[in-house]
Amino acid sequence: MLTKESIQANEPGPLGKNLKILQQTGSTNDDVKELARRGAPAGLVLIADHQSAGRGRLGRHWQTPPGVNIALSLLLDLEEIELKDAPVLALVIGLAVSEALESTAGLETGLKWPNDVLAGEGRQRKICGVLVEALQHRPDRNLQPGVIGPATRLVIGVGLNVNQERFDAELEDIATSLLIETGHRHARSTLVAALLRRIHRRLLDVKAGAVAELLAEWSNRSSTLGRMVRTPDGLIGRVVGVSRQGALLLHDEVGTTYEVLGGPLEMLEASTL
Ligand code: BTN
Repeated sequence: MLTKESIQANEPGPLGKNLKILQQTGSTNDDVKELARRGAPAGLVLIADHQSAGRGRLGRHWQTPPGVNIALSLLLDLEEIELKDAPVLALVIGLAVSEALESTAGLETGLKWPNDVLAGEGRQRKICGVLVEALQHRPDRNLQPGVIGPATRLVIGVGLNVNQERFDAELEDIATSLLIETGHRHARSTLVAALLRRIHRRLLDVKAGAVAELLAEWSNRSSTLGRMVRTPDGLIGRVVGVSRQGALLLHDEVGTTYEVLGGPLEMLEASTL
């Protein structure tokens, strides 16, 4: 059972101070947006045991069945980090998740641009997805009705498959869980605490201006670097890195470099991992 007390007993660090746990909800990202509109402070972390309408990127559904996985959303003030660093946050959070899985469960994972953490043979199956969304204005800014101010707050959503034994037929070849990869169950409270510690550490690094170093660490764990991929626009090329803005850098067959802003990527050759 995932409780505030069990998470706090595992030393989650500063992000463990303002925790809310729900037995069931639609989407924790939607809940945190609503709480933010009502004035909730930055640092709020909402975790649900079960999501009935969890969302992924590109409007996809994200499954969080009861009692087995982690669905977590964090409210962040953009004043805490520079706006120009917002696009790299999904990569940075993926890095933090990968580090937490390694230190807590001994699982090595691969990062797939822009928001996936992959595990299993050849690092081909998704174990975690990250969804970063912006809120358009703060309630205390007294904006004119109908006027949308600059995004000032972000919601960072993390969905991690922990003790899920199997997936629906359409997901079983592309999804995995910590249980499937390690052969045993894991205490979700220990994992949440480790995730919150790593996320806090990596957000501090962003605030300190260490984005280039973070992207280098992301690249070290990347399962896309060096691979031939096809983008949603049909561009085919080899992944050579990520830009300072978090865009994927591709070389096509004649060596032209492209910056790719949106996934998903189709992998065109098997991983050598
Ligand atoms: C993706 O892979 O496209 C992102 C998946 C993000 C899922 C998490 S679960 C917690 C939070 N609430 C949501 O509705 N989505 C995110």
